Amino acid sequence: MEHLFTNIKSLLQVREPGGEILKGGSMSNLPKIDMAFLHIKEDKIIDFGSMSSAPDTITAEVIDCSGKFILPTWVDSHTHLVYSGHREDEFADRIGGLSYEDIAQKGGGILNSAKKLQATSFEKLYAETEVRLKEIMQLGTGAVEIKSGYGLTSDAELKMLKVIKALKDNYTLPIKATFLAAHAVPKEYKDQKGTYVDMVIDTILPRIAKQGLADYIDVFCEKGYFDLEDTERLIKAGQKHNLKVKIHVNQFNSFGGVKLASELGALTVDHLEELTEDDVLALKKGTTIPVALPGCSFFLQIPYTPGRQIIDNNLPLVLASDFNPGSSPSGNMNFIVALACIKMKLTPEEAINAATFNASFALDLQDKVGSITRGKLASFIITKKIPSYRTLPYAFGSNCIESVWISGQLIS
Ligand code: NIG
Ligand code: FE
Repeated sequence: MEHLFTNIKSLLQVREPGGEILKGGSMSNLPKIDMAFLHIKEDKIIDFGSMSSAPDTITAEVIDCSGKFILPTWVDSHTHLVYSGHREDEFADRIGGLSYEDIAQKGGGILNSAKKLQATSFEKLYAETEVRLKEIMQLGTGAVEIKSGYGLTSDAELKMLKVIKALKDNYTLPIKATFLAAHAVPKEYKDQKGTYVDMVIDTILPRIAKQGLADYIDVFCEKGYFDLEDTERLIKAGQKHNLKVKIHVNQFNSFGGVKLASELGALTVDHLEELTEDDVLALKKGTTIPVALPGCSFFLQIPYTPGRQIIDNNLPLVLASDFNPGSSPSGNMNFIVALACIKMKLTPEEAINAATFNASFALDLQDKVGSITRGKLASFIITKKIPSYRTLPYAFGSNCIESVWISGQLIS
């Protein structure tokens, strides 16, 4: 099946195949073609260009896009989409004055979600997660990473990763799975953190790896969760099983996790709400990609990742939603892009690059998604008739999306 999209007001993020992640000043450049066409066949982009060179095809269904913009779908490189139930009571407690840490110390937080998830069947968990996946696809997300980490037992972690595997099998959007058993120390291991880390490394990880259920390993490297020694052990164990590394780090405290992760060759370091000069230096020395999660800062009312400083240091930046029940219960990447502009002082061009092209590198999907490129998946957003693409972050509460195509199919 072929489709030809014509009279596109502006086709955004058009790039030739290949290319490196965008750093510093190059993030300001959002390449576009005004008055453009886009030609797709089956699940791929086969051509695009100026309307004056549009093909004269009789085999394609023609879709007129006058007054509308087309841009690649968002790539959300950090989510916790698999969970059961909600945590609205904690939300109310936080409004009443408790902090995220206070709630965790009372047995809430991640342990609260783990208790719920352990008691939920695979079928129910799949159904709950699928609703969220469909929702984010409608909001324009065309590739997503999903973490485990609310299981915290061998069986429950496996159950989460099997839900992710089933979604991979049933949906055409690229999905990457991350093993995050080191998300919190379970109650049963209170004061025995080392024993829990041993169990993760010796028991759960080999099971996961043998069944090919994860692409990445992650650790919540934070005071009260996992320290540098635990993080190093877990990273190295994951690498032995050929898992690449993504780390939750510097959400509340900076104590060397960024340097450690970058020296061990992590693909990404995520959160970075607290960022010191030493952390920036460590990032400049390596190739680890910094990922900001402004939805978490908004929801928990904690500092925003200094994205401006990161870009001004000639580093790359990626934006992701962190969709999870505790610190960012939204996977709306349109809002994430708006927040990055409004709160982190990114320009709309930088924010769109961070959530599309750069984000594809955070999931090793730069050959498949992230830009309008011949040979990449036909995954894109068609906007409503809006005055400018800058309207996307500017009209932050409005839905500017008319339709979403993922892997050549219209999402309804
Ligand atoms: O990325 N900070 C660690 N993990 C999640 C939150 C998990 C939760 O509160 O359920 C995050 O913010
Ligand atoms: Fe997270």
